[in-house]
Amino acid sequence: MAIARSLTRSRDAGPVSDRPPPAGFVARRARSDQRLVERLRRAGCVAAEEEASELEVSAGGDQVLLEHLVQRRVGGEPLAWVTGSILFAGHRILVRPGVYVPRAQSELLVTRALLKLPRDGCAVDLCTGSGAVAVALARARPLASVVGTELDPAACACARENGVTVYSGDLTEPLPAELVGRVDLVTAVAPYVPTAALGLLPRDSRDHEPLTALDGGPDGIGVLTRVIVQAAGLLRGGGWLLVELGGDEADRVAGLLHSQGYRHVQTSCDEDGDVRCLEAQLVARPSQRRRDS
Ligand SMILES: C[S@@+](CC[C@H](N)C(=O)[O-])C[C@H]1O[C@@H](n2cnc3c(N)ncnc32)[C@H](O)[C@@H]1O
Repeated sequence: MAIARSLTRSRDAGPVSDRPPPAGFVARRARSDQRLVERLRRAGCVAAEEEASELEVSAGGDQVLLEHLVQRRVGGEPLAWVTGSILFAGHRILVRPGVYVPRAQSELLVTRALLKLPRDGCAVDLCTGSGAVAVALARARPLASVVGTELDPAACACARENGVTVYSGDLTEPLPAELVGRVDLVTAVAPYVPTAALGLLPRDSRDHEPLTALDGGPDGIGVLTRVIVQAAGLLRGGGWLLVELGGDEADRVAGLLHSQGYRHVQTSCDEDGDVRCLEAQLVARPSQRRRDS
């Protein structure tokens, strides 16, 4: 299934440690690499060579630490939890254990979102997780205001470590009232895997990542539909909503988008040709729609 398949891909994390390897480490590395690569491969790591290299660099030549990191990885923990970070849209993002690992596929949403965010605009990233999307937007638009919301306390803490201003709570509910009707851009990589497809996810995700980050309910669009409705209450007229989704979810939310006052709906595909990102412009704010009807 395309939705589950897309969640297998995450950009490999680069080195966490900036310490140079100790003398002799580089020479020994070629030998230890192959044993480590084999061990990781046997444990089911697809990109075993890259992972071995990342784990070695993270350990910085400390063999005891390396063994500890490798055991965690072989036990199925996501690589980013073990190394402590991941590269997302060119930015190093800290990812603490228990927090959803940002996926390379979500860089598409960032690329599209930056086309909609004015230089000094205002953006809200719902379901911000580690804050990866918010960080990428804020760094590309240093004059803009970018904030996030997030339900999970561990993810809130992680996003704050990444420098994101996070409001803790359900979707738009915790945001300050003065933002209502003033936001240029709402982004959301909300959970969108149908409950029945959760079992198809790769082991790292299935066994470790929190269900609240993945489970989109029986039809996959439980959270997404709430995002669409609540974002309409937050955006200014002419503002944009960008969400990540999968499968035929874009078709299934089309009617709701229209009824909520969104127009100019457009989708973009990931590298497999699957629809992955939806953008829509709010042309009529909810209060205006009530007046007009
Ligand atoms: C798929 S993850 C995406 C995280 C981040 N945007 C990223 O791309 O790495 C979804 C995130 O939404 C959070 N979440 C789920 N339901 C939520 C809700 N109703 N309100 C706020 N956050 C929610 C989860 O805790 C999780 O961190």
